[in-house]
Amino acid sequence: MRRLLPEPGETTISEQLETYRPWENEREGRPFLAMNFVATLDGRATIDGRSGPIGSDTDTAMMSGLRGRFDAVMIGAGTKRVERYANLDKRLVVVQSHEGEPADLPELLGTLRDEGVRAVLCEGGPTLHGSLQAEGLVDELFLTIAPKLSGGAGPRILEGPLPGVMEMELAWLLEEDGELFARYRRS
Ligand SMILES: NC(=O)c1ccc[n+]([C@@H]2O[C@H](COP(=O)([O-])OP(=O)(O)OC[C@H]3O[C@@H](n4cnc5c(N)ncnc54)[C@H](OP(=O)(O)O)[C@@H]3O)[C@@H](O)[C@H]2O)c1
Repeated sequence: MRRLLPEPGETTISEQLETYRPWENEREGRPFLAMNFVATLDGRATIDGRSGPIGSDTDTAMMSGLRGRFDAVMIGAGTKRVERYANLDKRLVVVQSHEGEPADLPELLGTLRDEGVRAVLCEGGPTLHGSLQAEGLVDELFLTIAPKLSGGAGPRILEGPLPGVMEMELAWLLEEDGELFARYRRS
């Protein structure tokens, strides 16, 4: 794997994540929160309704490495319905509505913090991502861009309105076999 930014050179997933310590960056009253997504070149977050066919084995290894750096994994109920979440060796938090009402996400994150969760990796999906970004609760975005075009009607990595355009800055960019692994943080 090549690191293109910063400081170009050879790297590995474990070397890259070794110094990544999200639990040291918890925010006021809530854990640090990073999103992780994989997308095609045409911006789709699914192929035939699933994310699995998009990324490579390296992307799977990156996801697994990232999970190891966080206290809990969060997903929306829609993602839980279609993706496999058996055998996860992390606390899994599934966000769902109650009697048609959306979850109070700041309150949920505050509760997790009170329970000792310092860093959360949210693995989507696009609807939950939109809600979290709209409330200013996302600190970083890990985005794998697979060298594939899928067409079709798959969602993007974020669905729903935002209060405005959100500026992000690129913290690192890695490459292997034409697949890009970007880490963005809110600027
Ligand atoms: N490419 C990727 O990296 C990636 C990652 C994840 C998912 N996906 C794909 O995304 C698709 C699912 O998309 P999606 O947008 O439906 O996923 P999602 O955000 O996981 O699920 C949406 C559902 O989650 C619950 N939810 C989300 N935000 C909520 C909130 N603020 N409050 C309360 N409940 C909330 C609701 O469930 P209820 O209505 O049941 O309460 C909502 O209908 C799947 O095809 C999956 O494969 C792709």
